[in-house]
Amino acid sequence: MVLWYLGCATFWLLLGTTVGEYLGIKFVAPDADSVAWLSFGRLRPVHTNAVFWGWCSLAMLGLANYVVPRVGNTKLASYKMGWWALILINLTVVAGSLCLMAGINNAGGEYREYIWPVMLPFAIALVLSLINFLNTVARRKTTEIYIANWYIIAAIIFTIVIALVAYLPWWQNGLGETIAQGYYMHQGVGMWFMLFTLGVVYYFLPQQLNKPIYSYSLGILAFWTQILFYTLIGSHHFVFSPIPWWLQTVAIVGSMGMAIPVIAGTTNFLMTFKGGWHKVSGSYTLPFFIVGIIFYFTGSMQGTAEAFRTTNLYWHFTDFTVAHSHLTMYGIICFFMWAGIYALVPRLTGKEPPQILVGAHFWLALIGLMFYTVPLMYGSTLKGMLWMQGKPFIDGVVLMAPYWVWRAVGGSLMWLSHLFFAYNFYRMVVKRKEVSVAATAIKKLNPSLNQSL
Ligand code: HEM
Ligand code: HEM
Repeated sequence: MVLWYLGCATFWLLLGTTVGEYLGIKFVAPDADSVAWLSFGRLRPVHTNAVFWGWCSLAMLGLANYVVPRVGNTKLASYKMGWWALILINLTVVAGSLCLMAGINNAGGEYREYIWPVMLPFAIALVLSLINFLNTVARRKTTEIYIANWYIIAAIIFTIVIALVAYLPWWQNGLGETIAQGYYMHQGVGMWFMLFTLGVVYYFLPQQLNKPIYSYSLGILAFWTQILFYTLIGSHHFVFSPIPWWLQTVAIVGSMGMAIPVIAGTTNFLMTFKGGWHKVSGSYTLPFFIVGIIFYFTGSMQGTAEAFRTTNLYWHFTDFTVAHSHLTMYGIICFFMWAGIYALVPRLTGKEPPQILVGAHFWLALIGLMFYTVPLMYGSTLKGMLWMQGKPFIDGVVLMAPYWVWRAVGGSLMWLSHLFFAYNFYRMVVKRKEVSVAATAIKKLNPSLNQSL
């Protein structure tokens, strides 16, 4: 079942980023097509929702279906529920992508463009996973609940709340809708993807280093401070908007407070490496963890920097936000997911991926991400400054043109890396004909032994 989760996730990664790649090309060649179904406005949410719910969410839940029982030294409470959750999420992403391309959407709210009947199976899948994981934890044979399960289960609980806030109709008008959107958007990335992924890392990182996590207490500190601060910062998406000034200030202060869980988490992970750095060169999972940790720190701190009023004045509405989205969702979440998948799948199947191709995946993804984000950050800072001088909007478009070419180049490398990843996944799961070398050799030497062999 875990392999099916990860296999479906890989499929959505390929599909979602093929759409992303095409969107990147459209910035350079805006007249590439004139088909309504392929227009930028329709395809953009197809990309974001497919990578969010199809790729990252299925990969996280797939790994959790292994981690949650494992750290409680018990079995998953119900495989049936696990399978149903998988089917329902796939259903949501298939129906959602088709609806969006056909122009059927929730009008407005980013990352909640799927209409509610489409999102409902996803919500049911979350409830099923929560019940399943809680039952599994209840059956644990250990006294403590290992920290990974704290993070994973809290992430699901928060996401059910977030989904309700995003889809219940009562506050979806005027400024209330904007505040709900900010809350939804940032809790989505922070309390679903980030909290859940940290849980997964708390299991796989010590396992790959073959030593316990550096500090359990730091992990708990990061857990509670993340809950305290992350839930307050949604309105930092709408600095200078007509929502109350004090609420924006709370969000900015909360964004500064986020330094506490981020520094605590980063320190904990890096210190776990202490005495184990020599293992990095011989491991194909640890480099993925290291990249994830680096971007966890830099990407999150970049977010804090973006939240201030002065910086927001320059960067908001520019591609800087897009660079931040990819540094975090790609640099943190995707790299940690790949680390977990390369760590787990060979254990389940007994088959290793070709090392050289894991290297190709790693380097293309990393270099591609840098080509994608660094020019965007540089160009959008210049663009923000241009706007502040009161220059015409079109000047900013002309200025960005070469940086969008770099993004298309970087995106192509990232896309290529996903093909390598998909092939590596295939190599890790495919059944190969077992050839007994000894038996073949003996048969050749003495055909009369055929019968007995
Ligand atoms: C300390 C932690 C973080 C802070 C303070 C922070 C802050 C911000 C701010 C201020 C923005 C809005 C910028 C603007 O519109 O002007 C933003 C956007 C965004 N952030 Fe973060 N960020 C943090 C961590 C993360 C993480 C860990 C992720 C992903 C796992 C993430 C994903 C995103 C995404 C996807 C957007 C774009 C939202 C949109 O579509 O407008 N951030 N962040
Ligand atoms: C081949 C790899 C990828 C390419 C070429 C790509 C390209 C793009 C493009 C062109 C956009 C639209 C930007 C805009 O509207 O200005 C976008 C948006 C976005 N993509 Fe990707 N993407 C890729 C992979 C991913 C992955 C794997 C994730 C998440 C795990 C992701 C998350 C996002 C998010 C959150 C946004 C919205 C950004 C925002 O509003 O700030 N992308 N992507």
